[in-house]
Amino acid sequence: MDPKGRVAIITGAGSGIGRATALALAGEGASLAIADLNEQGGRETVRLIEDAGGKAAFVHVDVTKRDDLERMVSFAEQTFGGVDIFHNNAGIGTPQPRFPAAALELWEKTLTVDLWAVIAALQAVVPAMRRRGGGVIVNTASLAGLIAHFPDPVYSAAKHGVVGLTRSLAFLRDEANIRVNCICPGVVDTPMVRGVPSSMSEAELKAREAYVNTMPLIRPDEIAEAVLEFVRDDTLVGQAMAITHGPRRRIIDPPIRFRDDPSQRAGSP
Ligand SMILES: NC(=O)c1ccc[n+]([C@@H]2O[C@H](COP(=O)([O-])OP(=O)(O)OC[C@H]3O[C@@H](n4cnc5c(N)ncnc54)[C@H](O)[C@@H]3O)[C@@H](O)[C@H]2O)c1
Repeated sequence: MDPKGRVAIITGAGSGIGRATALALAGEGASLAIADLNEQGGRETVRLIEDAGGKAAFVHVDVTKRDDLERMVSFAEQTFGGVDIFHNNAGIGTPQPRFPAAALELWEKTLTVDLWAVIAALQAVVPAMRRRGGGVIVNTASLAGLIAHFPDPVYSAAKHGVVGLTRSLAFLRDEANIRVNCICPGVVDTPMVRGVPSSMSEAELKAREAYVNTMPLIRPDEIAEAVLEFVRDDTLVGQAMAITHGPRRRIIDPPIRFRDDPSQRAGSP
């Protein structure tokens, strides 16, 4: 799909990867619904896009609230006329202490934002894309969704969920002309990685900074390029793309495949 003249919604577009993708899509001529819990960050993204001559509008959304997700879709339809592209991107890491020491509410929140909300957002967006005759969805998973991630096992579980969900929704292309894919970035230089969680002690902060500094960081605009590749390339469906430093992008095939019997697909009678 050529992004020019299309309408895109991006969750978590008030910062990091979401903002970089918003700027890239706006630069290609798409109109952007900037969805985020963080109003200041979201409005700053709108300003950056408008200053560059693009079209964008902010919508305050908590992706863990079903009503907010429905409102986000209506907002894009009323403001720009529909939804063609959805970058399902908002996400968080688990604060310290992490699983298995983490309190139930902490790891539940990670699962709620990083997996439940990704599923709920798709459910809200797909009907709008059907009304439009099709669309492109790019979920943000992570390398932690393809391999073990020892620092945050629940985040890894949620992101593996996003990869499985993405691959299992490939049938939507045949059924509704909607292509679903996901990006699996390595460590990206965003506030998620650089931010200072208030729950951390001085010693934990130093250890974390030292750990981050050992890793080559990917720039957010390099991740945006991967999202744009999924938008543009109509042959990519149900794929997980790993993005590592360099940046190196490659599709990661699942290790085993089941036979695809169309009569057994989700949504079949
Ligand atoms: N930074 C990395 O190294 C990295 C690597 C792989 C995957 N990711 C994933 O990329 C995505 C974006 O992360 P980022 O690095 O840009 O982080 P970031 O913290 O810079 O941006 C995340 C954005 O999501 C928003 N958000 C969080 N909870 C929300 C909610 N409930 N409702 C609406 N918005 C909410 C935040 O306000 C923020 O603007 C996440 O899904 C993250 O898991 C990040």
